[in-house]
Amino acid sequence: MKAVAWHGNHDVRVDTVPDPVIEHPTDAIIRVTSSGICGSDLHLYEVLGPYIDEGDILGHEPMGIVEETGAEVTDIKAGDRVVIPFNVSCGHCFMCDKGLMSQCETTQVREYGTGAAFLGYTKLYGQVPGGQAEFLRVPQAQFGPIKVPEGPPDDRFVYLSDVLPTAWQAVEYADIPDGGSVLVLGLGPIGEMSCRIAQQRGVEHVLAVDLVPERLERARAHGVHVFDLRDHDDLPAAVREQTGGRGPDSVIDAVGMEAHGAPVGKLAHRLAGLLPDAAARKVIETAGIDRLSALHMAIELVQRGGTVSLSGVYGGAISPMPLIQMFDKQINMRMGQANVKRWIDDLMPLVTADDDPLGVEQFATHRVPLAEAPHAYEIFQKKEDNAFKILLQP
Ligand SMILES: NC(=O)c1ccc[n+]([C@@H]2O[C@H](COP(=O)([O-])OP(=O)(O)OC[C@H]3O[C@@H](n4cnc5c(N)ncnc54)[C@H](O)[C@@H]3O)[C@@H](O)[C@H]2O)c1
Ligand SMILES: [Zn+2]
Ligand SMILES: [Zn+2]
Repeated sequence: MKAVAWHGNHDVRVDTVPDPVIEHPTDAIIRVTSSGICGSDLHLYEVLGPYIDEGDILGHEPMGIVEETGAEVTDIKAGDRVVIPFNVSCGHCFMCDKGLMSQCETTQVREYGTGAAFLGYTKLYGQVPGGQAEFLRVPQAQFGPIKVPEGPPDDRFVYLSDVLPTAWQAVEYADIPDGGSVLVLGLGPIGEMSCRIAQQRGVEHVLAVDLVPERLERARAHGVHVFDLRDHDDLPAAVREQTGGRGPDSVIDAVGMEAHGAPVGKLAHRLAGLLPDAAARKVIETAGIDRLSALHMAIELVQRGGTVSLSGVYGGAISPMPLIQMFDKQINMRMGQANVKRWIDDLMPLVTADDDPLGVEQFATHRVPLAEAPHAYEIFQKKEDNAFKILLQP
């Protein structure tokens, strides 16, 4: 089959690889019909190289049609239309029972001390072959796959794999009080969807910050009060002015390691790319800290006693967080990978509603064949050609 494989920093290729086969009775094989490229994939493309091997198959936002199931997979059968969560979770362990599927104890990657395995995402998350491919082996398929109805286009459902539950969790964790305000940092797919979900859930005062003109425009068109980072020397002052002088009740950080405006960090990551793996890992684990500028901004912006909800992914083992400020401002903070299946019952009515309240049908800017993946990664990373959300369609 054809699959998108990692070959180095800024080098993904469409390789021909063996078709996946059932390896465990809890596996299923799906024929992929759509597969998103995510901001998290850019971390691999740019930063996390030392944790990935040449030839690893990328992608964690797939949907498709079931081809084959293992003996212990009884809820889905060949021919079913399914979305696959990015978390590989078992559905029956202590953590899954608590709704923390991203901490699943059956698939935790103990070698690296990390949480649940994650499709297409480095050794840190189990090195599971990903879904930007013609076919995918789905581990823990007795629990993971989300059955969706026939009829509507893939765009209706594919974001259930990641964008929708991640944004839903971001809003949930932001703990926005009734009548309160939320500010979203970063208007990529996760940030923009967080704005839409907050609005859908009745938050009237939604603000957001980014620096890409088309992204600001998209959010503005949805009634979000946007700030262009480049226009403000004193962003906190501008935000306070729009939030009764105190700042928003809640801030969602949907930027993560891609943060601009941290030149030292960028350089460190670039250097790391040139070093042998062991040395590079050290640099990433220590220099990850320089990419915290968006998170520090979130802490600066939020109202005293407010909540910061962190969905952007940060690396870095030593993280000099501004503890004095966090303590002094009495800030609450929640974070983590989305627990995908935890939020599906909340989301399913919204993605199947006739009027498409979250606008998922118009969310993607590009739908391209798998063969064009290298170009798609490039324009998504450079934010060229209005690339916002790209779906690969094998
Ligand atoms: N928690 C989870 O489960 C989960 C799931 C999916 C994605 N993520 C993470 O969420 C983050 C966003 O994902 P995405 O797909 O939307 O990615 P993206 O890279 O498209 O979006 C990031 C946005 O942040 C903007 N930005 C950069 N620096 C900024 C700054 N200093 N202030 C304000 N905006 C800034 C960029 O212009 C961009 O529009 C990534 O870190 C990704 O890894 C987390
Ligand atoms: Zn993703
Ligand atoms: Zn589990």
